[in-house]
Amino acid sequence: MTETVPEPAAGLPPHGLRWGIKTSFIDYVRRMPGGRGTVGEGATPVGSHEMLFALDAAPPPAEATAGAVRAWAFRGDVRFTGHGGMLFVRVANPWVVLGADEAVLSIEDPYQTPDAPRLPLVTMRLRSDPAAEADGLEAWFSTEVRLTPEGVELFNDVYQVGEAFEPVAIIAPLPTT
Ligand code: HEM
Repeated sequence: MTETVPEPAAGLPPHGLRWGIKTSFIDYVRRMPGGRGTVGEGATPVGSHEMLFALDAAPPPAEATAGAVRAWAFRGDVRFTGHGGMLFVRVANPWVVLGADEAVLSIEDPYQTPDAPRLPLVTMRLRSDPAAEADGLEAWFSTEVRLTPEGVELFNDVYQVGEAFEPVAIIAPLPTT
């Protein structure tokens, strides 16, 4: 179940996960005859190459976040199709779970198989920007966003494990506890 989160005050960035997935992949689909991208279900396009996935007020379940420093769930469904249907990439409802060392961004099973586990797509380092606290926000920015072994197949084995993906930004209300 998803819950809504109050919008931040005017002038502040909306809460959510801002991410461009992989710019070269988006460009590849764009220049492909018949290539198509759709963004919805809580995700909105930002600029030419990024999406904002809305913050879900319900965090990932406890069993997914044991030992985590922070964890966020986001809503949104981004799909890329092309090559007469042979290419289908779905990046939906991402979670970011920050451990002691690195964070993992996972997505729903791209093929929507019933009961399929989530797919860990990229790992990253996250650092927070304390300046956001004055606005009642937490802001986290990534470095070293890298494709996981589990994510390789989603891109038809074109990218290798460790391939660099785009940086993410997370804006959320400051945790109250
Ligand atoms: C009819 C089948 C396919 C053909 C003919 C094809 C052709 C190509 C070609 C020619 C390139 C390199 C040229 C360019 O960058 O524009 C490429 C890159 C790539 N293809 Fe395909 N492809 C096919 C299917 C797929 C499928 C099913 C996927 C699954 C996601 C896929 C994912 C990719 C990726 C990720 C790249 C690299 C994009 C980048 O970051 O530059 N391709 N493909």
